Formats: sequence, C-alpha cells, structure tokens
Amino acid sequence: MKLTGSLDILILLAILVSIPSLITANSAVVVTKENFQEILNSNELLLLSFYTDWCRFSQILEPIFEEAAAKVHQKFPEPGRVILGKVNCDVEELLSDQFDILKYPTLKIIRNGLISNQEYRGQRSVEAFVQFVEKELSDPIKEFHRIDELTNAEVGDGMVIGYFASKDHVEYDNYRRVASLLRDDCRFLVGFGDLTKNLRPPGKNVLIFRGDPSIRNQKHPYAEYSGNMTSFKELTAWVDKVCLAMVREVTFNNAEELSEEGLPFVLLFYNKKDLSPIQEFKNAIHAQLENETRVNFLTADGELFKHPLFHLGKSMDDLPLIAIDSFVHMYLFPEFKDIHRPGVLKKFIDDLFSGTHHYNFHLALDAQEKSESTIDPAEIPPVVRESKFKELMPSKHRYTLVNRTRDEL
Ligand SMILES: *[C@@H]1O[C@H](CO)[C@@H](O)[C@H](O)[C@H]1NC(C)=O
Ligand SMILES: *[C@@H]1O[C@H](CO)[C@@H](O)[C@H](O)[C@H]1NC(C)=O
Ligand SMILES: *[C@@H]1O[C@H](CO)[C@@H](O)[C@H](O)[C@H]1NC(C)=O
Repeated sequence: MKLTGSLDILILLAILVSIPSLITANSAVVVTKENFQEILNSNELLLLSFYTDWCRFSQILEPIFEEAAAKVHQKFPEPGRVILGKVNCDVEELLSDQFDILKYPTLKIIRNGLISNQEYRGQRSVEAFVQFVEKELSDPIKEFHRIDELTNAEVGDGMVIGYFASKDHVEYDNYRRVASLLRDDCRFLVGFGDLTKNLRPPGKNVLIFRGDPSIRNQKHPYAEYSGNMTSFKELTAWVDKVCLAMVREVTFNNAEELSEEGLPFVLLFYNKKDLSPIQEFKNAIHAQLENETRVNFLTADGELFKHPLFHLGKSMDDLPLIAIDSFVHMYLFPEFKDIHRPGVLKKFIDDLFSGTHHYNFHLALDAQEKSESTIDPAEIPPVVRESKFKELMPSKHRYTLVNRTRDEL
C-alpha cells in the first residue's frame, strides 16, 4: 500500500517533469547566433520574432506567439517545413544588427533560406499567425489543365506562365521556390506535359510573362525568360523586374510596409463605382514617368481612405483626385485631367523635391496673414495639409521604436 502510494507519486512526478519538455518541443525555438545558420538552411519557412524582455509589445506577443508555434507545429510536424523562432535582441546583438532591427517586436519572414526585408505585419493573434503559415506553405503556382483555363485567367497586374515537360524536374523546383518568394507580387501558372507540348521547343521548359493588357506603353507587356532555368538568383531577379508594378494599391494591410520604403506617396483617390481613373492614371504614368524612382505611385479607395480625403477638404464627390503625401505634408494636385498633359504631373513631383511646394505654401500663408494676395492666380499653390499617411507608419502603439543614433555612438 505504502509502496504503491510512493510509486503513484513517482509516476506523477515523471509526468510533471515531462510536461515542460513537451512544451519546449512545441514552442517557439530560441534562435541564437550558434544555431541560426542551421535553422536557416534546413527550413522552407521561418517566422522570427525579434524582441526584448523589457518591451511592452514583446511581452504581450510572447504567449500568443508561443501558442501559435505549438499550433503550427501540430499542423506541420514534418521537419524542414516551418519554424516559429524568437531572437532576444539584448542577447543576440549580431543577429539583431544583421536583420537591421529598429523596432520591437519585429517579425521577419524568411523563405527557403533567403534573408529579405519582408516582415509579417498582420494581426498578432494565434489564428492570424496560423493562417499566415498555411497560406505561405500552400502551392504558390496554379496549375491549368486546359488551354482555355489559361486564356481566361485573370492577368491582374501581371502573370508568369510556365510550360514544363513534367513536375519532377529541377527546373520546376526552382520555379516553385522563386514563386513562393514572390507570391505577393505576381500570379504564377503552370501547365505540364502534352497540354503545353506545342508551346515549348522539344525538350525545353519555357517561362513567359504577360502584363496587364489594359495598360498602354508598358515596359514589359510580354517577356520570355532567357536566363538559367536552375539559377534561383537569376530567375528571382527576372521575375522581380517584370512583375513589380509601377502603380500599386494601398490598403490598411500594406500601408505600413509601403511607408517604410521611405518614398513619398503619389496617390490617386478613386471611387469604387468608377474605376476608369485608375486606368488613366496607370497609362499616364507608364507613358510619362516610367523612369521616376523617387516616389511610390499608389491608388487608394476613397471610401477606405476618407480620412485623408476629408483632411484635404474633399469628399467622395470630388473624386478622382491626386495628392502627394511626403509624410510631412499633403499636397493636392490641382486638376486630375491635367495628368494627360505631358510634363504637368512630373513638374508637380519635381516641385516637391525642389521645395517649391513648401515655399509656395508659406508664401500663401504670409499673404493670407497680410490679407492681400500677392500671388498671380496662375501660380496659386496647391492645397496643403499636414500628412495623414504618416499615421500609417510603424506606430508607437504597436512597436517600441529604437533610436537609430544609439548604434552610432
Ligand atoms: C545555372 O545555374 C546553376 C545554379 O546556380 C549552376 O549550377 C549552373 O552551372 C548554371 N548553368 C549555366 C549554364 O550557367
Ligand atoms: C526612360 O529611360 C529610357 C532609357 O534611358 C529612355 O529611353 C526613355 O525614353 C525614358 N522614358 C521617359 C518617359 O522619359
Ligand atoms: C536619440 O538619442 C539621442 C542621443 O541619446 C538624442 O539626442 C535624441 O533626441 C534621440 N532621438 C529621439 C527621436 O528620441
């Protein structure tokens, strides 16, 4: 009796002891400079949380991230698929520097061992993390089984189409890896075997790009890849070049990422009921500003971004309209229809960089104060307001922002 009792306790103890080790196996992996390289090389997907113990947002994230790691581990137990890892930035300064961490917590996404500056910026909930991993691990390439599926496919901003002899080929593996890296920038399709036999030279696989057919004056309306089919680097560079749209849609999901690119926004606010201004805007930019790299050209649903619109003194009835947001000020482009007059939109952008907008703005303020207009009506400066889009930059309500100057001491 006594013996059994103590045996019970021993068994209970054994269970208690084994629980923590079970949790460890299922929780976020502690990533250090010692194990980093191996984890990097041996996993399809890594989601790394760069945190510090003293950061409030890191503390809130901690249990959520641990639970997400356990759920992800349950769903994808096969080794080599996915790891949720955490890096303590106070301890791992080398890793923190390597990833250029300027805010805590920063969640970095690494696919196929390739370090990029892509970040997870979605909701920080267990469900959202699990959904993100599921989407990332799903096949980025859509297979077509009939040619009319291909001809009827929505091109969107552009698509890459592969004609391959078979799935079991190192060249297809390479295409799949590149597509998984750039899955947010393009659509990817593939057709195999007899179906695409007439579309490729005998014994060869082919990759082509098709751009949005409704845009005139595109740099790359159609392109065929002529590089090395097994080179990950070369194919990535090609897809990146042909797929990167000059004009992108801004939403609440990508606004933070777009703002971190650091370039002023040139925004078209449109009304969802009439999408033709989007086409006009894209055509004008491809025709006149294809070499402009100082700004981000974006389209914004006026309903979604009513706040900045009202801030400019405008409403849905005034759409379409164009404005520049420099993250300091917003400048309203006077007349939408002038985008078709060559050079007008370009001058508006040039005026931002030369400081003319800013100068005119103060000139107008002074004139107003003296209540006498000294400005030629033809030179009336655009409506200026404080930036609204700066509110979409990484927020101190979501991150502990690190002071850059700290590292330069
Ligand atoms: C193509 O790229 C692969 C991988 O980078 C490399 O091993 C191979 O030598 C390259 N082939 C040619 C013809 O350059
Ligand atoms: C952009 O640059 C290329 C190459 O320098 C040039 O041929 C082209 O005309 C430029 N496009 C515009 C719209 O200025
Ligand atoms: C960053 O740190 C420096 C030196 O400690 C300080 O002078 C500066 O005001 C700080 N900047 C911000 C934005 O906190």
